[in-house]
Amino acid sequence: MKGSHRLAPLIIPTFVLLILGIAVNEKVCIAGITSKYIRRPEASVDLPIDSPYFAVPPGNNPPQQVHLTQADRDGQAVIVSWVTPLAALSTVSYGLNKSQYDHSVTGTFTRYSFYNYTSRYIHQATLRNLQFGTTYYYRVGSWVGSGSSYREFSFTTPPPVAPDSPYIFGVIGDLGQTYDSLSTFQHYLKSQGQAVLYVGDLSYADDYPFDNNVRWDTWGRLVEPSTAYQPWIWTAGNHEIEFLPEIGEVTVYKPFLSRYPTPYFSSDSTSPLWYSIRRASAHIIVLSSYSAYGKYTPQWVWLQAELTKVDRTKTPWLIVLMHLPMYNSNTYHYMEGETFRVQFESWFVNAKVDIIFAGHVHAYERSNRISNVAYNITNKACTPVFDNSAPVYVTIGDGGNIEGIAGNFTEPQPQYSAYREASFGHGILDIKNRTHAYFNWHRNQDGEAVVGDSYLLLNRFNAP
Ligand SMILES: *[C@@H]1O[C@H](CO)[C@@H](O)[C@H](O)[C@H]1NC(C)=O
Ligand SMILES: *[C@@H]1O[C@H](CO)[C@@H](O)[C@H](O)[C@H]1NC(C)=O
Ligand SMILES: *[C@@H]1O[C@H](CO)[C@@H](O)[C@H](O)[C@H]1NC(C)=O
Ligand SMILES: *[C@@H]1O[C@H](CO)[C@@H](O)[C@H](O)[C@H]1NC(C)=O
Ligand SMILES: *[C@@H]1O[C@H](CO)[C@@H](O)[C@H](O)[C@H]1NC(C)=O
Ligand SMILES: [Fe+2]
Repeated sequence: MKGSHRLAPLIIPTFVLLILGIAVNEKVCIAGITSKYIRRPEASVDLPIDSPYFAVPPGNNPPQQVHLTQADRDGQAVIVSWVTPLAALSTVSYGLNKSQYDHSVTGTFTRYSFYNYTSRYIHQATLRNLQFGTTYYYRVGSWVGSGSSYREFSFTTPPPVAPDSPYIFGVIGDLGQTYDSLSTFQHYLKSQGQAVLYVGDLSYADDYPFDNNVRWDTWGRLVEPSTAYQPWIWTAGNHEIEFLPEIGEVTVYKPFLSRYPTPYFSSDSTSPLWYSIRRASAHIIVLSSYSAYGKYTPQWVWLQAELTKVDRTKTPWLIVLMHLPMYNSNTYHYMEGETFRVQFESWFVNAKVDIIFAGHVHAYERSNRISNVAYNITNKACTPVFDNSAPVYVTIGDGGNIEGIAGNFTEPQPQYSAYREASFGHGILDIKNRTHAYFNWHRNQDGEAVVGDSYLLLNRFNAP
């Protein structure tokens, strides 16, 4: 439960090691790199509760924790969410010019209780029928009556969905709210990223006694300098489950789903935990590692149908987000994603997915294009082999949370692992056109301009 998984003993049966391909296979002979640099191994330290990065904005009942996400299939709608300490209208005013708002929309608010915590007013409102490639200014909060306060922000909608629409995504996972989290976040703020693919584990509130949900509020304020200005595409991780029967909390994902809406209706999903969007030239599928995914389950049924809807002539880039990695050669969480891999790897290979981002393991790792779909229980074909249709797997759970770095990799480095390093950082996926994209990983020790690992992605549909 909670943070204890990092302390769990590692019991790895020999046959499991064989499945993951410790044995050398001639077909995968690209020697991987294990960077010798390992960030100091101590646990990361959370920012104190009175940190200026958690400061409540000034004013009377000011809106805080403002964050955006895409609200429709193609990026012409945005969900704005925010929190007010006291009751207020759930209204967003917006328009093309700063402080001159010719549109407004009123949404809804919710409150939830968690053990002895009661949330403030959590608002959300959806702005629709926006033009592509356009900067909008918006205002949230109350502005009626004396002494009331509101705040103004802006965002830019993506270009139309088209095969050569360039776009730059940030990729962040397992962020938390430590000094290292702050470093990761501040590095990302200096990037050219236009939207964030977030691979799960947000606040780590559940690492606090009684899952102190005040730490959800502090996290919301920490990340607001980005989330109020560009959409973050949310994936649920294990720290979002918050299943704590010992204190009577048995509604899974309650704080996460109360605070972070997702556009699941627009992709015909029946759950906010799995859904898809299209943005510029990318089709992005978000999956839930901790929801049922066996044959006939709602997620399995949805994904099967969803993969048939991908149109690579419109969105050449097919990207999948999940929390738990399918390929991971770190001793931390080793093999945890194996049943998910068995269930879905052949689908991803058949669909020619370009890249899969996952978190959970607090280190960075990038795979070669390999697959292990030939294996079955009787044929001993148990080593991943080079597969030109397979995705690149990136583990990027190195945001910097309180649980510290996952500093122990399995040895020797498996053939499927191209690069791995136990440092905190973030990724940038820079899509140029229908054939070329660059994935760059930036470690926190270096300035944003320095690239720790760089990989040219050639599109699986147009330039396989
Ligand atoms: C917004 O500003 C532009 C010039 O910057 C002006 O042409 C336009 O009329 C303004 N629109 C509104 C609604 O004020
Ligand atoms: C909630 O309960 C815990 C444990 O009894 C206590 O430490 C904390 O102060 C309480 N918080 C509130 C808001 O009452
Ligand atoms: C396992 O693989 C072998 C060889 O590829 C094949 O003949 C056999 O039918 C497979 N078994 C199952 C259960 O798929
Ligand atoms: C890695 O494993 C070694 C040996 O078991 C242990 O001493 C060390 O603390 C581990 N490192 C981390 C970061 O957990
Ligand atoms: C796609 O982008 C790459 C990298 O910027 C460039 O080399 C290539 O010429 C571009 N292709 C087209 C058709 O513009
Ligand atoms: Fe996790």
